[in-house]
Amino acid sequence: MAYLLFKYASISVAVLVGLYAGLLGLLTTPAFQAHVVYLHKIQMTWFKDLDVPESFGFLRSQTTPFAIKSSASETLYAWHILPIELYRQHELALVAEPSGFAVDITSRLAFKLLRDDPDARLIIHLHGAGGTVGSGYRVPNYRALSAGQPNKIHVLTFDYGGFGRSRGTPSERGLCQDAIAVVDWATEVAGIPPSRILIFSQSLGTAVSLAVSEHFALQSPPKVFAGTILVAPFVDVAMLVATYRIAGSIPLLSPLARFPLLFKYLGTFIQDKWLSKDRIAQYIRTNEANEEKYQLTLIHAEDDYDIPSHHTEVLFWHAVNATEPRGVTYDEFKEVKQNSKRDLGAAGSVVEWRTENGIIREEILKTGLHDVVMGDPVITMAVMRIFETADPSLN
Ligand SMILES: *[C@@H]1O[C@H](CO)[C@@H](O)[C@H](O)[C@H]1NC(C)=O
Repeated sequence: MAYLLFKYASISVAVLVGLYAGLLGLLTTPAFQAHVVYLHKIQMTWFKDLDVPESFGFLRSQTTPFAIKSSASETLYAWHILPIELYRQHELALVAEPSGFAVDITSRLAFKLLRDDPDARLIIHLHGAGGTVGSGYRVPNYRALSAGQPNKIHVLTFDYGGFGRSRGTPSERGLCQDAIAVVDWATEVAGIPPSRILIFSQSLGTAVSLAVSEHFALQSPPKVFAGTILVAPFVDVAMLVATYRIAGSIPLLSPLARFPLLFKYLGTFIQDKWLSKDRIAQYIRTNEANEEKYQLTLIHAEDDYDIPSHHTEVLFWHAVNATEPRGVTYDEFKEVKQNSKRDLGAAGSVVEWRTENGIIREEILKTGLHDVVMGDPVITMAVMRIFETADPSLN
């Protein structure tokens, strides 16, 4: 009996170890990695038509689906979302228009309300892994983004190549090129200067957002946006897999993180590294050297079980470190933080780092999970703080 039990126990252990090794083997292949990192085939809006934004809770013709050309993915599927007070002012004319996909968006009233208002603000939205522009907490997120100035703040959101209706296969290069194409559309077709644009991003989108912010800051002359918001960002893919737990409980690769050499070896198989910690530093250094005004806000909930909030603390340190010619060690920095931290009780805490050129702000919330936070008032406040600081005449 004992022998049999032992036999079955060892068979199950062998099977589990075999499955785990098989999974690791699969993870070293680029195609499987792409599916794990981007989850682009998990749409979550299967039974709804993205061309009918009304079915996601929008008013008739409040949201215009259209396409943006990208060198990486041919065409990207995008939504332009009107803020509610602006919609109210033009309700009759909007309702009289055709709704649904716009082959020529420049012929639509909603687009003209964006292009022709010299005070309009635009938020370019970079969503996280999986899903489409319409899934999960993204729709409440769009409302929170424009709630502070609902006759001024428009939202532009899109699916990266390989996601939803955008063709192609996702990759680090491809996603960056897609986001650059969307910014180019906003500045060239809609005519909105970077000073009236804010880049909002969550989760995987934060890595794209840093790449894009860095790209434009490095142009000559530099293009720096009113601000960049990162919700639930991560340091890089290697640290992400080291800390990631499936459904918050089953560690994927973290057991291996105890064997640094093996982990480092597996790390060499990572195709898309998304080195956000380097990009955030490069972005800040470039702006400081060019004396460009910049604002960067990092927001993370302590109860985020997909990506632990420690990632934000590390990124914040890398950002602040880049403002100091001689740098700051993590321990020095922790002490400075402790002294300047504003404790908001059950709402969490805020630390702000100001230089002559920029404001870097870290908000650690007590609650908000990984994506529920996107529809919360902290998001509205973060947007308003950035737009008002960039141009105090906004109100
Ligand atoms: C911090 O900044 C210093 C000075 O620029 C740099 O030498 C150092 O590598 C930075 N530290 C990290 C962890 O990036």
